[in-house]
Amino acid sequence: MTTDEPQNLDNLFAQLELEVRQAAAGLSSSEAVENFRLDWVGRKQGRLKQLSDQWLKSAPVEARREIGQRFNALKTLVESLLEEAAGAGPSDAALAAEALDVTLPGTRRLMGAEHPITRTMNELIAIFAALGYSVGVGPEVETDYYNFESMNFPPGHPARDTQDTLVIANQERRSLRDRLLLRTHTSPVQMRTMEQQPPPIRIVIPGKVHRNDAADATHSPVFHQVEGLCVDTNITFSDLKGTLDYAMKALFGSSVKTRFFPSFFPFTEPSADVQISCIFCAGKGCRKCKHSGWIELLGCGMVDPAVFAFAAEKQPAYDPKKISGFAFGMGVERIAMMKYGVSDIGQFYSGDMRFLEQFV
Ligand code: PHE
Repeated sequence: MTTDEPQNLDNLFAQLELEVRQAAAGLSSSEAVENFRLDWVGRKQGRLKQLSDQWLKSAPVEARREIGQRFNALKTLVESLLEEAAGAGPSDAALAAEALDVTLPGTRRLMGAEHPITRTMNELIAIFAALGYSVGVGPEVETDYYNFESMNFPPGHPARDTQDTLVIANQERRSLRDRLLLRTHTSPVQMRTMEQQPPPIRIVIPGKVHRNDAADATHSPVFHQVEGLCVDTNITFSDLKGTLDYAMKALFGSSVKTRFFPSFFPFTEPSADVQISCIFCAGKGCRKCKHSGWIELLGCGMVDPAVFAFAAEKQPAYDPKKISGFAFGMGVERIAMMKYGVSDIGQFYSGDMRFLEQFV
């Protein structure tokens, strides 16, 4: 075919137009559209490029205008077809293949939920976070120094016996203070935190603790505590009482009352046990509170100056003459058992779905 005759030129472009329209008609996937694009407007091998190289550029000068006009019309057509195909989305056939059969049974997805112990810990953290406390953590495998000595339990002190400590085997070659054990309370994180930062401090310490206790309905050798520590200038016992009274009301409801009884912990002086009015009988007396109207829930006290003296070895600002503070510690399982009416602590660790599903 030659291009010098207008008739031939018309035929050639009519043929090309037919071809491009046919090719564009069946484009049902994005790959097909891309192939179409490469085939027609591809920079190196595209049909338009070939056409321009073979016909347009080599045409005699007097024929160039004619060819050029037809070429541009074809190019515009290709581009508009391409635009249409790219925006059109999948074909009817492709849609039908993916269609959803609403009569099929649905896929059941099980809802995950926070474990009641985690939930109770997070709730306590949130209550104290609102009072400006941040969260501190420490290791479960602890040294004798942090778990006992720096908490003012001297070596051989009888108070150590009350903690039923699980010790790591084969530690005899180490000095007593470096011997490893499973922490019996979260209190060692008090010291670890004070060594890291000068006062003021307001932290809550959630975590797992271990004691060599026989498992029964209310005891487990592994359980959880939330500890609190507040240190600043002029912190008083009133601050301690106000803080814990507020926290217990936030946790159990505003009608709950608190009362403080003298107690003993080596790391606080004075120390107290805190009782709350029975949440089951509103203080009237029932089986749950052994007819006393009160339930013992946590231990607390003013930080013992001897504890500050240990902290001052690393952070001199813990000078017991200049600062004061309070600490408290509570068992998470005990609180969760009361809140959710659980009578056997073992349920928390059983992994029984019938138990856990109730917390979704
Ligand atoms: N660590 C104590 C315990 O486990 C609880 C406690 C913490 C008491 C802080 C007073 C102050 O029994």
